[in-house]
Amino acid sequence: NGRGLLKGKKVLITAGGTREAIDPVRYIGNYSSGKMGYAIARAALREGAMVHLISTNPPLPHPEGADMEYVSSAVEMKQAVDRQYDTSDVVVMAAAVADYRPAAVADQKIKKETMTSPDLKLTLNPDILLGLGERKQNQVLVGFAAETNDVIAHGREKLVRKNLDLLVANDVSSPESGFHVDENQVSLLTPDGHVSSYPRMAKEDIGTLIIEKIASIMK
Ligand code: PMT
Repeated sequence: NGRGLLKGKKVLITAGGTREAIDPVRYIGNYSSGKMGYAIARAALREGAMVHLISTNPPLPHPEGADMEYVSSAVEMKQAVDRQYDTSDVVVMAAAVADYRPAAVADQKIKKETMTSPDLKLTLNPDILLGLGERKQNQVLVGFAAETNDVIAHGREKLVRKNLDLLVANDVSSPESGFHVDENQVSLLTPDGHVSSYPRMAKEDIGTLIIEKIASIMK
C-alpha cells in the first residue's frame, strides 16, 4: 500500500522479450517473461502513478489500472514508446529488446527443403533507449543492463552512453535470477557514481525498490 509517491505522474514501462519474425510461423526471441516490468508497473500503480505498460507478454495478468498496449517486435515497440514519450514523466525500459532482426521476413512459411543454407541474414534493430536519452527533456529515464560478467562496469557504461538517470544492472549468469524466474539480483547505479547492490530477492520487491528510487530522484 503506497504513500502516493508518484501521484499524478505518468510512468511508461516496457516488459517482455521482443519477437523478430523470420516467416509467418517462426521468430527469434529471448527468455524474458515480462515479470520484472509487470512488478515495476504494479509498484508504480500502488504509488498513485498513471501507468502505460507496453508488453510483449499477453499471458501475464494485466496489472489492475494500467493502460495496456501489446507489441511484438523491437520496431513496433519503438513506435509505441515514441508515441508516449513526450507526455511521460518516467520511462522504465525493462523489456529485453532484440539487438538484431532477420534482414528479410518471408511472406510464406519457409520450407525445410528450400533452406539449402542454414544461415540467416540479420540486420541491426534501433536502440530504443539510446534514442530516448538523446532527446530527453524532463523525463526520468531508467534502463536495465542484463549482464553475465563485469555487471557494474557494463552497467555504468550503458548509464552514461544512453544518458540515463538510473540504471538497474542485473546479473543474468545464474539460473536463479534474471530472465524468466521470479527472483532477480540487481544493483542500482546513478550518474553521481553511487552503486547500491541488493541480494537476490523477489521481482515484486525489486519493483518497489526501483519505484522508491525513482521517487527519490524526482524530489
Ligand atoms: O522479463 P523477465 O523474465 O522478468 O526478465 C527480466 C529481465 C532480465 C529481462 C530484465 O530485468 C532486464 O534486464 N531487461 C533488459 C534486458 C536487455 O535488453 O538488456 P540490455 O543490456 O541488452 O539492454 C540495455 C537497455 O537498453 C535495456 O533497458 C533495454 O530495454 C534497452 N534496449 C536494448 C536494445 C535495444 N535495441 N533497444 C533498447 O531500448
